[in-house]
Amino acid sequence: MRILVTGSNGQLGNEIRLLAENYPDFNFIYTDIDELDITDPLKVDAFFIANRPQVIINCAAYTSVDKAESDETTARLINATAVENLAKSATSIGALIVHISTDYVFDGKSYIPRNESDKTNPQSVYGRTKLAGEDAVRQYATKGIILRTSWLYSAFGNNFVKTMIKYGKERSELNVVFDQVGTPTYAKDLAKVILDIIPSALQHTGTDLYHYSNEGVASWYDFARIVIAFSGIKCEINPILTKDYPLPAPRPYFSVLNKAKIKEMYKIKIPYWSDSVKDCIQRLG
Ligand SMILES: NC(=O)c1ccc[n+]([C@@H]2O[C@H](COP(=O)([O-])OP(=O)(O)OC[C@H]3O[C@@H](n4cnc5c(N)ncnc54)[C@H](OP(=O)(O)O)[C@@H]3O)[C@@H](O)[C@H]2O)c1
Repeated sequence: MRILVTGSNGQLGNEIRLLAENYPDFNFIYTDIDELDITDPLKVDAFFIANRPQVIINCAAYTSVDKAESDETTARLINATAVENLAKSATSIGALIVHISTDYVFDGKSYIPRNESDKTNPQSVYGRTKLAGEDAVRQYATKGIILRTSWLYSAFGNNFVKTMIKYGKERSELNVVFDQVGTPTYAKDLAKVILDIIPSALQHTGTDLYHYSNEGVASWYDFARIVIAFSGIKCEINPILTKDYPLPAPRPYFSVLNKAKIKEMYKIKIPYWSDSVKDCIQRLG
């Protein structure tokens, strides 16, 4: 089976590359912007016709949440228009598109874990453009899976875990917000789920939406404390309020996703968030 991974130099894409050897039946084609700029519809179409992937895993995205507030045009081009290109081209060759979305499509004002059927209400440019990307899959893909995830980190790229380790080594104390609650998600766990569900997902038509994060709940403060503790760094973590750490893009206060649907449908077991943080930190050495 030929599987195209777009945006494969990012966190999720790199974790898929590492797991690939465990899936000998899958023949992976990895691209990032240099090999396939997904914002160019003609190039996407030509690439799909030439390579005829049966599955496209779209790991490409504009993920700079704060930068997006002042660069909506680029964020929309990559997070929405390009997804439309992928969905249309996937449909033209009968391929399944697996697209990754975000908890930022919700406003985070309800203290009940979010279900797939809950009303969306994005508060940031990033969230709005990601929701438009979901809509493109729903509108143009005949076979689609949308996976919403949250607080992604991995051994690759820039993320909260690496930032905490870096600053934790440089400073004696760090202030981290404790009034935003969600679930950290290890990109390696997400990558494994995506690859595991593909054979079964290929049997379905239409577009399905699922929530996936690691198990459990944490604030950024709890997340930071675990990272610092597992890394053996001496650094005090102080809990602070969001209002004392202003950022350009508003963040959801409560971002916990309910994973019942994906667990039931694909019979998967999801690792607890801090167990996965431990694995990531061991890999980082
Ligand atoms: N990071 C999070 O906390 C988080 C949370 C929830 C959901 N998600 C979603 O999870 C998915 C994976 O996120 P991630 O953290 O792995 O992203 P990432 O590390 O930022 O990787 C995205 C990749 O896409 C590439 N890209 C950008 N524009 C492109 C284009 N026009 N054509 C082809 N490739 C392009 C990027 O290249 P450059 O680096 O050169 O731009 C990068 O290599 C995304 O859909 C994201 O929205 C992320």
